[in-house]
Amino acid sequence: MTQPITKAIIPAAGLGTRLLPATKSQPKEMLPVGRKPAMQYVVEELQDAGLKQILIITGRRKQAIEDHFDTDPVLLSALKQAGNEAMLAELAYIQRDSHFFYTRQSSPRGLGDAVALGAKFVDGESCVVALGDSLIAAPEPSAPLRAMMQAHLELQAAAVIAVEEVPLEETHRYGIVTVKRDPAPPGEPIPIADIVEKPPRGTATSRLAVAARYVFSPLIFEALARTPPDERGEIQLTDAIKLLVQMGHPVYAWLFRPDERRYDIGNFESYFRTFIDFALADERYGYLARQYLKSKAYEL
Ligand code: UTP
Repeated sequence: MTQPITKAIIPAAGLGTRLLPATKSQPKEMLPVGRKPAMQYVVEELQDAGLKQILIITGRRKQAIEDHFDTDPVLLSALKQAGNEAMLAELAYIQRDSHFFYTRQSSPRGLGDAVALGAKFVDGESCVVALGDSLIAAPEPSAPLRAMMQAHLELQAAAVIAVEEVPLEETHRYGIVTVKRDPAPPGEPIPIADIVEKPPRGTATSRLAVAARYVFSPLIFEALARTPPDERGEIQLTDAIKLLVQMGHPVYAWLFRPDERRYDIGNFESYFRTFIDFALADERYGYLARQYLKSKAYEL
């Protein structure tokens, strides 16, 4: 298990029903956040963390994802002929030293089911799972993942899971983790005592919510194979992680540091917030967005 981690799985096969009609014919993961589709941030984060082999789990109406990470000779030659060096540079993300693989989840039977489709690709190695609808904002967006991967290898962990603090009244929307240290220190591995998918209101034992980035040993695929579907017929990744904990395997949480943050674009409120924050922080156009927002503030 000491070999470096090079493989990552991005589940992106969900229906995105909370973002209809925006997601009627285009993947949620391809909605723009500032100047790039959400998924491009995720891929760049993985590439910067040294993950060169990326499996994307897609489904119906997800063709745009493959198109985005594929070269487009016609577009490239048109830009070259026009001498549009700036735009050519914007497309450099495609030329990076990574390999993309795709497989389809024919019906979205839950995040656990999507990840399980990566078993053959991972082929007995450790791997990263990064949700395609969640972005990391940080001075270096790949830093949390790199640190989690290092901890995973050093501790010979079965899993290291990113977590974030959420308000108590929102815990019923997340996978909630109970850790063996209180308060949980950010930026280090903390052993997990329990994990529960969407605990009913008022029953959460902590405010630490699973936050879209995971590092797994191959044990996760055995756990997923033994995880029954929930009452909605979905296989939950959280339930498989719970099984790992119950079997006594070392599973750790990793709380983001104060300057690291997960943005989820899964509903309109969080999508708008994500778009606004990324637009305001944009190095090229952010000042225009900030000026505009200041002018609007008078009207609010
Ligand atoms: P969500 O549960 O937030 O996505 O999954 P969803 O199902 O698309 O959203 P709603 O509830 O219908 O609005 C988080 C990530 O996991 C992927 C999604 O594509 C998303 O990137 N996912 C989810 C799968 O790949 N397969 C699934 O069966 C479920």
